[in-house]
Amino acid sequence: MAKHLRKCGEPHVIFDNLSTGHRIAVGGSDLVVGDLLNPQEIAAALDRYRPDVVLHFAAKSLVGESLTKPHAYWENNIVGGWNLLEAMRSRGIGRIVFSSTAAIYGNPDRVPIAESAPKRPVSPYGETKLAFEQMLGAYGRAYGLKSVSLRYFNAAGADPGGEIGEDHRPETHLIPAAILAATRGEILKVYGDDYATADGTCVRDYVHVTDLCDAHGLAIRHLRTGGASVAYNLGSGGGFSVLDVVQAVGASTGRVLKTEVAPRREGDPATLIASSAAIRQDWGWVPQYVDLGVIVEHAANWRAGHPEGYTDERGPGKPPI
Ligand SMILES: NC(=O)c1ccc[n+]([C@@H]2O[C@H](COP(=O)([O-])OP(=O)(O)OC[C@H]3O[C@@H](n4cnc5c(N)ncnc54)[C@H](O)[C@@H]3O)[C@@H](O)[C@H]2O)c1
Repeated sequence: MAKHLRKCGEPHVIFDNLSTGHRIAVGGSDLVVGDLLNPQEIAAALDRYRPDVVLHFAAKSLVGESLTKPHAYWENNIVGGWNLLEAMRSRGIGRIVFSSTAAIYGNPDRVPIAESAPKRPVSPYGETKLAFEQMLGAYGRAYGLKSVSLRYFNAAGADPGGEIGEDHRPETHLIPAAILAATRGEILKVYGDDYATADGTCVRDYVHVTDLCDAHGLAIRHLRTGGASVAYNLGSGGGFSVLDVVQAVGASTGRVLKTEVAPRREGDPATLIASSAAIRQDWGWVPQYVDLGVIVEHAANWRAGHPEGYTDERGPGKPPI
């Protein structure tokens, strides 16, 4: 997003505690190293840069970890988010774009999932994201805050220019994990092969990070032109199974990816596919990179150029790759 904003000539600053983020991924943008759990740090950054819109990406976002450490999710995602909203409210900053998630829906009754589908999160991660959307709603009704919640499905791909890619430690996202396993000759665990899907493995909707950035650009424009608060699902509209990804990674890396079936993970629905009809219709958002092969290729290109991942300064507690 920082690269996208630079390309658009949009003045901005990144505020991040580098707990999972990487300093180098910020590129030439201004970076304030600060924590949403520290109201003074938020205040100092807002007073210095005086933004008219805030893009709120910061979160803890590991579904499995949220089941064993819910306290950390409610603290970071809710207390941290509330600190941010309060700092904005006291300064009259009235526009926010929030990174929400498919996890707010839990196990859907049907796919593709529309925005009106029941919200029944099955993890504290999903619960905190839904609760923050509700907080945005309450601030909107009482204080006039205008918000756009973008409910990403599986964010994937990488900067098509090869500069920026995904580097989580540990890597829990399927595409980068499969690329790492393929390039290192390791075995990739497939969590469950007895789901009610065509090949028995989980089906997900992979949406390219560049398309997500475009949607954020449209959200900024919507808010600046007086648009009302809204929430949209963001997906490519297609579903790919774990084995589809395994095949695409094999094709893209030219290596045979070995897999091993492991038990299902708690809280993994069989199929998650977005209906993004609403954002397409309202804002004309059209994802450019819907082909799984292209999404995987961008991710694999970044990894090929960064075999050790990001090797910049680590944030607190960040493990080696
Ligand atoms: N990756 C996906 O598939 C996906 C899907 C749906 C929603 N999302 C949401 O998108 C957002 C970004 O996800 P990501 O995959 O890039 O994760 P990420 O962990 O790479 O990004 C989160 C960023 O927030 C920062 N951060 C966390 N807590 C902070 C705090 N208290 N103060 C300041 N900075 C803090 C981290 O250092 C990191 O840079 C998250 O809100 C996530 O829930 C991601």
